[in-house]
Amino acid sequence: MNRKRFYITTPIYYPSDKLHIGHAYCTVATDAMARYKRLTGCEVMFLTGTDEHGQKIEDKAKAAGVTPKEYVDAIVEGERGVLDLWKLMNISNDRFIRTTDGYHMESVQKIFKRLYEQGDIYKGKYVGKYCKPCESFWTETQLKDGKCPDCGRDGLDAEEEAYFFRLSKYADRIQHLLEDTDFLEPRSRVNEMVNNFIKPGLEDLCVSRTSFTWGVPVDFDPGHVVYVWIDALTNYINALGYENGKYDDYDKFWPADVHFVGKEIVRFHSIIWPAILMALDLPLPKKVYGHGWLLLDGGKMSKSKGNVVDPYLLAERYGVDALRFFLLREFPFGSDGNFSNEALITRINVDLANDLGNLLSRTVTMVGKYFGGVLPAEQTADDALDGELISIGSALRGKYEAQMEKYAFQSALSEVFALISRANKYIDENAPWTLAKDMEQNGARLARVMYNLLESLRLAAILLTPFMPDASAEILRQIGAGEAASTWESAEGWGGLPAAATVCRGENLFPRIDMEKELKALEQAAEEARKASLPPLELEPLLEEKVDFDTFCKSDFRAVKVKACEAVKKSEKLLRFTLDDGTGTDRQILSGIHKWYEPEQLVGKTLVAIVNLPERKMMGLPSQGMLLSAVHTEKGEEVLNLIMVDDAIPAGAKLC
Ligand code: MSP
Repeated sequence: MNRKRFYITTPIYYPSDKLHIGHAYCTVATDAMARYKRLTGCEVMFLTGTDEHGQKIEDKAKAAGVTPKEYVDAIVEGERGVLDLWKLMNISNDRFIRTTDGYHMESVQKIFKRLYEQGDIYKGKYVGKYCKPCESFWTETQLKDGKCPDCGRDGLDAEEEAYFFRLSKYADRIQHLLEDTDFLEPRSRVNEMVNNFIKPGLEDLCVSRTSFTWGVPVDFDPGHVVYVWIDALTNYINALGYENGKYDDYDKFWPADVHFVGKEIVRFHSIIWPAILMALDLPLPKKVYGHGWLLLDGGKMSKSKGNVVDPYLLAERYGVDALRFFLLREFPFGSDGNFSNEALITRINVDLANDLGNLLSRTVTMVGKYFGGVLPAEQTADDALDGELISIGSALRGKYEAQMEKYAFQSALSEVFALISRANKYIDENAPWTLAKDMEQNGARLARVMYNLLESLRLAAILLTPFMPDASAEILRQIGAGEAASTWESAEGWGGLPAAATVCRGENLFPRIDMEKELKALEQAAEEARKASLPPLELEPLLEEKVDFDTFCKSDFRAVKVKACEAVKKSEKLLRFTLDDGTGTDRQILSGIHKWYEPEQLVGKTLVAIVNLPERKMMGLPSQGMLLSAVHTEKGEEVLNLIMVDDAIPAGAKLC
C-alpha cells in the first residue's frame, strides 16, 4: 500500500546575520508538523535551507573583507551557524538547500531561460526606488508616502536595464486562487493581499539585476543576475530535482502540502510564486500558511535593533524541548506573539514542571511504592470515578488531530494539557495514599487508579512527541509503554498500555525554575552576550576637514602640574584641579573624569592643558582651560586616559 505523502517547507533563511529565536519559531513549527505527519504514518519531505544571494550579502562580505561565499559559509556551516542551530533545536529536516548549490543554480538558469523563451520574461527598463536593507525594488505606486512599504526607509532612485516577469498576466487567476479557494491561510491574510496588491493592479516584476554580481548569472545575457524571487522561490521545486539531476523526487512530492512562511513574505508566496508556477504550467502548492511574528517589547526582533533573543542561551538553560514547547504552546501560530522571559519561565513552571512533570513523578513513584514498580493485572474499575478521565483520554487523539490538521498547535497542546490537568485532579479525587492503607481491601482498586494515570501519561506523551521528542520518549520509557504502546495507532482510544505495566523511575524531566533568580541571570547573560558581540575597539574616524597651520598655532598647550585635586560636591563626574602652569598663579580646571580617576591618584602628575580657552563655569565654579585626554570605545564602554607627560618637563613648558 502506498503511504500518504506530505511535503512541507520553511522559508529559506538569509544568512546575512546569525539566526535568532524568531527564525527558530517557524522552523520549530515546521518540525512539529513534519514529526506529527511521520507519527501518523506519512512519508514526509521536510525542506529548509538558506537564501544566499543578493546585494546585502555582497555588501556585508565586502565589509568583512571576505568573498560572499566565504561569508555565507561561515554563517551557514560555521560554529553556532544555521546548521548548528537546527541541530540544537532537534530539527528533523530531510533536506537542506542552499541557493549557492550548483544544482539549484542550474535549475534557476533553466527556469529563467524557459520563461524568457516563452515570453513570460521580457527585457525592459526599471525605474523606481530600491530599498537596500530590504533588497526590494518598489515602483512609485507601491511606495508608502514615498518610502519603502516594508521598513519605512527612504529608497534610492534606481533605473536600469532589467528583465521582467509578466506578473500582470496572472492577476485574475491569482485573485481567484486567493478569494475562492483556501490556498492562503489564515483567511485574514487574503484581504490584505487582494486589497493591497491585486486590486491596485499587479505590475510586472523586475527579476534581474545588473548593479551587483552575487547571484545566479542569466546565462544568455552576461552582466545580469537573477534577482531574488525566481532564485529563492524555485528552491521548493529545485530541491526535489526539478530541472536538475541531483534529486528525483519531484513527481513524488510536488505539489507541496504546505509552505509555512512569515507574514511579511506572504505576498511573495501567495502572488508571485503561484504566478511563476502557472507560467511553468506546474501544479500549485496546496497551501501557504502565513504565521505571525515573535515580537520583543511589541516590535520585530532584528539584529540592527539589537533586540534579538538568542536560542542557544535559552536552550542551554532550559533544554530544547521546553523551548520548543513554549514557542508553540504560548502563541497562536497565525498571530503575532510577544516573547518574554517571564512568559517562558511561567510556561515551564506551570505546564511542564507542575502539571506534566509532577503527574509523571508522582505516578511513577506511587507505582514503585505501592506495587514495587509492576502493576498487578487484577484491577477494579469504578465507572463513576474513572468515567470522565477515560472519556477525555479516549477523545483526545481525535481532537488533537483536528487541531493539528489546521496548524493550530496551541489548541492541539491545550487538548493534551486538558487531559494532564484532569489526571492531576483524578489523583486528588482518588487519594491513592488512603487506598494504600488497606492493600488487601483496596489493592485492586489502587492498581486501576495507577493504571489510569499511566494511561493518561501515555496518551499525552505520544501526542507531545512532535513538540518534545526527547522528553516524550523519556516519559514513555519511565511508564514502561514499550514500542507497541507508543504508536499513533495505539493512541486512538483508552487502554493501549498493557495492564501489567512496569515503570522505571527516572530523572526529574522539568525542574522548577526560580523566577526572580532566573530573570536576573538571563538579563546578565544577555548583557554579557551583547558586550561580547560588540567590536573590541572602536576609534573615532579621522577628521577629513583640514585645519590651517596658523589656526592650529592659536591653541596654547602647556605642561601643568597637579598641586591638588578633589571631587566637586554634588557632582558625580567633575574633578576640580589646582594646577601649576608656571606663571606663579594657580590655575583651576574642572574636568568630567571622575568615572575613570580618583583625585588622589592624580596629585603630582604632569598633564597637558589647553590654557587659552575662554573661562567657563561648571557647577558654579570657574574652569580655566581643559585637560587633554585620549578617548576610545572598548566593548561598548567609553575609555578615557589623561595625557600624562614626563615629570622632568617643567610646569608651563609649551607643547608644539
Ligand atoms: N529569504 C527569505 C525567504 C525566501 S523563501 C523563498 C527571507 N528570509 S529571512 O531570513 O529574512 O526570514 C525567514 C523567515 O523567518 C521569514 O518567514 C520570517 O518571517 C521569519 N522570521 C524572522 N524573524 C521573525 C520573528 N521575529 N518572528 C517570526 N518569524 C520571523 O525572508
